[in-house]
Amino acid sequence: MTETDINEDTITDAVVQSFSACPDERLRQCLTVLTRHLHAAARELEPTIAEWETLIGFLTATGQACTPTRQEFVLLSDVLGVSALVENINHRSAAEATQATVLGPFHMTESPPRELGDTIDEVGHDEQCLVSGRVLDARGRPLAAATVDVWQADDQGFYDVQRPDAQPAGNGRGLFTTNAGGEFRFRTVVPAPYPIPVDAAVGTLLGATRRHPFRPAHIHFIASAAGHRPVTTHIFVAGGPYLDSDAVFAVKHSLIRPFDLVDDPETATRHGLSNPFRRAEIDLVLEPA
Ligand code: BEZ
Ligand code: FE
Repeated sequence: MTETDINEDTITDAVVQSFSACPDERLRQCLTVLTRHLHAAARELEPTIAEWETLIGFLTATGQACTPTRQEFVLLSDVLGVSALVENINHRSAAEATQATVLGPFHMTESPPRELGDTIDEVGHDEQCLVSGRVLDARGRPLAAATVDVWQADDQGFYDVQRPDAQPAGNGRGLFTTNAGGEFRFRTVVPAPYPIPVDAAVGTLLGATRRHPFRPAHIHFIASAAGHRPVTTHIFVAGGPYLDSDAVFAVKHSLIRPFDLVDDPETATRHGLSNPFRRAEIDLVLEPA
């Protein structure tokens, strides 16, 4: 009997075959597809041993940068466009629903529950902004008692968790519940663009490829209501830099909003703002579950 070594031509099928007894069909499919694509990449690139070790070193550094409050693998998925692609794949059918976009790594602490109209700016900046909107179903009907979870960077481009010395925990965050008209509103500062963290493996990748690390200014939202699919999304500040070169490929033009300067003393007084103030609006439209 002649034995044949596994070789370049047969190794892919041999690895795929090794998963044939896997009882979880989806796991078997995932491992099969990944094996085929990884092997195809190795065949196309023909990496040297040194190059392969560099890749392993990079992935090791990515893992070593992860902590309970930092997820470098999510960041890697973000800058490679995989997070945005997976979001797009999972929200294909939602023609009338608000477009979804990436969660990002800064939703790691719970947002403090707040009342409609509260400020999420606990630092007390001078220039305030009123953000308001409604949570609606796909037929445009208001959804009462929906939750709207909000988080954002401040006007310097930092989240509370990045600057615990300068921002109290929960600053720039709020968990709101819509009223009978499906409405939510809060006061805040207009966020600034900011760089994603570049002090670890992902920063090395961006530097080596001469890519900038900035995200355009935005506010994150997760809107949820009983019987509906929650949406994870942002609003982006119109006219700001990086809208066409977001480091994580997450801009949807339907989510860009003007943050206009409004001169309206009566409205300012009603909402506890100094006049003039900035104003942005977004309705969050949910699909049925
Ligand atoms: C964010 O918007 O918070 C974010 C998203 C992806 C990567 C880094 C930050
Ligand atoms: Fe963000």
